[in-house]
Amino acid sequence: MQIYKVGGAVRDRLLGKPVTDIDWVVVGATTEEMLAKGFRPVGADFPVFLHPKSGEEYALARTERKSGRGYGGFTFHASPEVTLEEDLIRRDLTINAMAEDDQQNLTDPYHGQRDLEARLLRHVSPAFAEDPLRVLRVARFAARYAGLGFTVAPETLELMRQLSESGELEALTAERSWKEISRALMEDQPQVFIQVLRECGALKVLMPEVDALFGVPQPEAHHPEIDTGVHTLSVLEQAARHKQSLTVRWACLLHDLGKGLTPKEEWPRHIAHEHKGLKLIKAVNERFKAPKDCQELALLVGEYHTHGHRALELKPSTLLELLQSFDVYRRPQRFEEFIAACEMDARGRKGLEQRSYPQADYLRGAATAARSIAVQPLLERGFKGPELGEAIKRERLKALKTYKEQA
Ligand code: CTP
Repeated sequence: MQIYKVGGAVRDRLLGKPVTDIDWVVVGATTEEMLAKGFRPVGADFPVFLHPKSGEEYALARTERKSGRGYGGFTFHASPEVTLEEDLIRRDLTINAMAEDDQQNLTDPYHGQRDLEARLLRHVSPAFAEDPLRVLRVARFAARYAGLGFTVAPETLELMRQLSESGELEALTAERSWKEISRALMEDQPQVFIQVLRECGALKVLMPEVDALFGVPQPEAHHPEIDTGVHTLSVLEQAARHKQSLTVRWACLLHDLGKGLTPKEEWPRHIAHEHKGLKLIKAVNERFKAPKDCQELALLVGEYHTHGHRALELKPSTLLELLQSFDVYRRPQRFEEFIAACEMDARGRKGLEQRSYPQADYLRGAATAARSIAVQPLLERGFKGPELGEAIKRERLKALKTYKEQA
């Protein structure tokens, strides 16, 4: 049997990037031979094994043919006769379809190295279309390597467009899509992920609520970039630049969905878009079964981001309601993430990327003031049950009044 390093490990070594996990392909072997060498099978009828020591994945060279819709619709053909070239041709991108032996000799029948140099994400063959998840993968790689100058080859974008129009994307499971989306959002330029999905028509299928923001104007005084879609991309760009968490990035992407619902006659104003957007945020959250913390923050940021921007003008009672809505007493970190998302929203505007955001410290100070109220003295004064709750609220409000006067 011959063993080759394949996929991302070869690509990233040639790019001079750190290699994290290594995939191997094994040519000329049978399942029985692998088991005899101590490899552990990953699944019952999937020709992939784990190395007994390193735990790395070793796959038998295989050809793959699509036999139906969705991810289940695959038949595999793995046998010792399948060549390395046959295995590589079924892969997604030329830059992912190179193999390397233990002497670092490269097998590159589909010119991955040429495309690495040309900074092109290009599909290997029409077999690309056999897994619609690849539309998201290409957009994710575009987000990851945009900084190096990579773009999607026009013929690949065209194939992605056809796949998006074919209805195949709808067959993807929430779990597979979310895995790609969440990884893409954590890349250096997550806005490129959304941009590429939009260019090939996949955004309209996957997140029509986000797609609908393009072409929707906002008042120029607050939004020199005017377009709501462009603004959303900039907010995401800022979130990545400031190394924000996945929860914050997800909230950034969805914060303005309500603006897509404003009747044209009301443009460029978007009265009550915060509230109107909630049902859309909920729909997107549920479509991809986003983790609970992502879902929660996206809804809270959607509802309250304008409060964040207006923090310094808010009445103490409104500030208190805001803090209560976030349950800042038990969940201080979530409020920090809200502040971060608001700040990214404020900076994700043309020419305003460097602006200061005094609202952030003001909100932090307000949270500290409200949290400084001790319960013990109120208990000692005999408050209990709902009355205790009211008394705590009154004390917090008093603290916030003092805070506002002194700020
Ligand atoms: N692959 C593919 N189509 C997919 C998934 C994977 O063709 N839908 C192939 C590609 O050749 C890829 C390899 O399998 O390089 C390994 O896949 P994976 O580990 O998911 O990706 P990597 O390319 O290693 O990329 P990453 O750095 O994102 O892990």
